[in-house]
Amino acid sequence: MAATGEYLDPNKGLFAGSQALTFDDVLVVPGYSEVLPDNVDTTAVLGGIELRVPLISAAMDTVTEAPLAIAMAREGGIGILHRNLTPAEQAEQVDLVKRAQAGMISNPISLPPTATLDDAETLMATHKISGVPICEPDGRLVGILTNRDIRFCTPDEYGQPVTDFMTSDGLVTAPVGTTLEGAKAVLHKYRIEKLPLVDGDGLLAGLITVKDIDKRIEKPNASLDASGRLRVGAAIGVTDTAERADLLAQAGVDMLVIDTAHGHTAGVIEAVRTIKKGWPEITVVGGNVVTAEGVDALVEAGADVVKVGVGAGSICTTRIVAGAGMPQMTAIYECAMAARAHGVPIIADGGVVTSGDIVKCFAAGANAVMVGNLLAGTDEAPGDLELVDGAMWKTYRGMGSAGAMRGRAADRYGSGQTPGKHVPEGVEARVRYAGSISDLIGQMAGGLRSGMGYAGAADIEELRTRSRLVRITQSGLRESHPHDVAVMRDE
Ligand code: XMP
Repeated sequence: MAATGEYLDPNKGLFAGSQALTFDDVLVVPGYSEVLPDNVDTTAVLGGIELRVPLISAAMDTVTEAPLAIAMAREGGIGILHRNLTPAEQAEQVDLVKRAQAGMISNPISLPPTATLDDAETLMATHKISGVPICEPDGRLVGILTNRDIRFCTPDEYGQPVTDFMTSDGLVTAPVGTTLEGAKAVLHKYRIEKLPLVDGDGLLAGLITVKDIDKRIEKPNASLDASGRLRVGAAIGVTDTAERADLLAQAGVDMLVIDTAHGHTAGVIEAVRTIKKGWPEITVVGGNVVTAEGVDALVEAGADVVKVGVGAGSICTTRIVAGAGMPQMTAIYECAMAARAHGVPIIADGGVVTSGDIVKCFAAGANAVMVGNLLAGTDEAPGDLELVDGAMWKTYRGMGSAGAMRGRAADRYGSGQTPGKHVPEGVEARVRYAGSISDLIGQMAGGLRSGMGYAGAADIEELRTRSRLVRITQSGLRESHPHDVAVMRDE
């Protein structure tokens, strides 16, 4: 890997001087390649988190809530839950993601033998689970009640204790430490769906389910924590940092992303310090910055990862309203050079509308890419589909738009600190319906792999350090798009 300042000459020339460039100004130069797109490795590591598909969903209220965060993690990326929510509501969203999939459920929800069938039904409906272990108050497992046991119960039986219906004789359990493979064999042998794990004293210590094993097999690239649960991040601001971090940490959040429009500020530096000191085990992302000095300041404060981009987002008006910002290719390049000296990864945030843009982010030095626009039209994004002019759309708005600034994340922007005096730095818009996250991420990751093939990069590190970018003219850009044809289908 090239050390700081050793970028290939074309890059140096490209980024030298005061002219800043963005996606459409450059292309990755095809180079000698021994790699095939199907064989490249797209894994990236951000602090303590490994992502097989280094794509991150934006912390925006029209993009990332639990359903999208679950889908992103299952595809190998990660979602960052927005913060236009109370700290308790946001922590609940973290909990939803964490409970969506597990290797072993280490704190299974249980009921005492005195609970009624009615209690069990309510509990299973609330938590969307199909069975519940029954334990004495001291934690000793006495049985398990599953949907199968109560399928044909009549209404008058709902007042009876769960012990009348649960399976207790011949209850199949396994010892603590049983692997998923071992559990699979037991589940198969006894044709059961849930396997409680018990310790030497017969106390319930965990639960392994067929559903979780199936999910593991179905999505082998999923981003998982040490307990086999999906990874999730959450946005955090500079006004209620400690309170929010505390609740999010209790819910099991993996990554805290300080979500501000201008991260090279005293407030953000202080927020990084606060989180790093109080919750050192959580990966802290500081941002957003676009200069080497900004990166230095956040890394010195303790940021594990730095997020890069000011005014590049498709819904942003910061550059128009404030006259400030940095075209994204130059921002990534400058910040990557500084971050490299610290051994810290960066996330490129904003402006990405094609898989080609994603490739360019990495070629300029990014370790991962955050996207909002690309995901806002998917099934899993919040909001309903709208039919306009014969096409399906979903709402997508900037977190600095007038509508979003009425929420709790208004302190993202300078003017947001003064309620009622907001100066919007984003628009409210809509984007085309984009289908499922799974299909979309498949397309984006496919484009990334293809770009790696052209660059001759076997992994993300090679793409970041070995690829060359060339600056293009407006004629080159015109040539890049379909031209001199009547396009009949643009998918
Ligand atoms: P894309 O291009 O994916 O960008 O839509 C998403 C990123 O844009 C940032 N963001 C904003 N920036 N005004 C801004 O200047 C806004 O209202 C706004 N809302 C989001 C944010 O970094 C996000 O990840």
